[in-house]
Amino acid sequence: MADSFKIDFQVHAKVESGDLIVFVGENLKPTAAVAKQLGPKAVDLIAKAAAAENFKGKAKSAMSIVVPSSLSVDRLLVIGVGGEKDRTNVDFVQLGGLIAGKVNGKLATVVLDLPEIEVTPDAVADIALGVQLRRYSFDRYKTKKDDNDAKNGGRLVLSVADPAAVKKIYKAREGIQQGVIIARDLVNEPPNVLGPQEFAARAQALSKLGVEVEILDDRAMKKLGMHALLGVAQGSVRGGRVAIMRWNGGRANDKPIAFIGKGVVFDSGGISIKPGAGMEDMKGDMAGAACVVGLMHALASRKAKANVVGAIGLVENMPDGNAQRPGDIVTTMSGQTIEIINTDAEGRLVLADVLWYVQDRFKPKFMIDLATLTGAILVALAQEYAGLFSNNDELAERLTAAGKATGERVWRMPLGPEFDKMIESRFADMKNAAGRFGGSSTAAALLQRFVNDVPWAHLDIAGTAMGSPQNEINKGWSSGWGVRLLDRLVRDHYEAR
Ligand code: BES
Ligand code: MN
Ligand code: ZN
Repeated sequence: MADSFKIDFQVHAKVESGDLIVFVGENLKPTAAVAKQLGPKAVDLIAKAAAAENFKGKAKSAMSIVVPSSLSVDRLLVIGVGGEKDRTNVDFVQLGGLIAGKVNGKLATVVLDLPEIEVTPDAVADIALGVQLRRYSFDRYKTKKDDNDAKNGGRLVLSVADPAAVKKIYKAREGIQQGVIIARDLVNEPPNVLGPQEFAARAQALSKLGVEVEILDDRAMKKLGMHALLGVAQGSVRGGRVAIMRWNGGRANDKPIAFIGKGVVFDSGGISIKPGAGMEDMKGDMAGAACVVGLMHALASRKAKANVVGAIGLVENMPDGNAQRPGDIVTTMSGQTIEIINTDAEGRLVLADVLWYVQDRFKPKFMIDLATLTGAILVALAQEYAGLFSNNDELAERLTAAGKATGERVWRMPLGPEFDKMIESRFADMKNAAGRFGGSSTAAALLQRFVNDVPWAHLDIAGTAMGSPQNEINKGWSSGWGVRLLDRLVRDHYEAR
């Protein structure tokens, strides 16, 4: 990743050098305190420059005044906060991203005193998080650095009322920031570098934070009877793995909550091979697993008071002389059989065994899986909402609320007997593909047969995890989607005891 800014928190004081960033409303006026610090000449300059630039102080708009005559700073950056409508539910993470996108110098000071908007220490920490996420870029494999890199390594000062309070809260946000970046890095890594074994090693690295990590290899999985997962893996020269991560920050006898991720390191489709165009994107078919690793990192680094299990199924889906065929029937760990109709519907096969394993071994309070499961979810929801499927209304509502709070939004999709019927097979207990109609729901219906009535939610993140629309905190290909959402879910509902 690009070097991150060094962020300092400082109590409000006069700013003499570098870039100075202030905020104005639609009347083009900063707060009284900021106006006093700038002096009447600079306040007047803002009004005149705004008229010349046609800057109206609208939310998310900005204007820059170079070498402002009455100040000693290099640039005065004025960011609009808009009118009354814009002042409720301000997304401070996105605001942090916006700020980071405007500064380009070595030193920038942001005066976090906004007209008519309360900036709590929590909000400041969110702004800092947004700044760092905006700075992310994946350039590990570029041997020539471009001009953009010159702007790396700058210092950003957030001028606030109570730096001590902010610093305390920011510590926890740093863990989330790293978690998102871990997830993005894993998704961006090329599939030759990141096979199942290498991915498992990245999960194993969480043990440094006190996470207990176990890795199941092909032999261990065979013993457990995970033949659905193994059937997908068998066409690849690289064996599959399951990584189990446990963070025990809660009470000793408290049942854990569990997160499960699809980790197909590359999805060629197998014998039902995909068309060539865009196949390179299937290196990201492990985004669910990447999110679970990033989440476990976030929870462990902020020492979350919760017992959490993360489990990821890591395989490569390849065509080969030994690959699984359409027509094959596999026996899952649960004992249920699945007829393979399409070897490209592999994610559900991997999850079937991992979901069963997790509920069987850990008896979780609830479990949530994340998977880049279906192209159909892009048809239904495009790329700003993840598809949410759940057998539990309360869990679905909590996920929806966490989605609204973090901006990582979910939209509930149907499950039910109609879809369940569609995956009936002539030869086995079920089939792994059922045609184009309701493709995301039939995939979820298969998963549901492996959760054994444990409260469960499935997030289909095929649209949101990669190649999704860019925003102020994501200018890259992989978004790290889900880490902030699930960290919030855990924080709001399972630690507040
Ligand atoms: N990994 C794909 C789904 C996907 C598509 C992820 C686009 C990200 C972007 C999944 O394994 C898949 O191939 N699903 C098939 C299922 C079908 C064969 C029933 C699909 O969606 O076409
Ligand atoms: Mn596939
Ligand atoms: Zn896939």
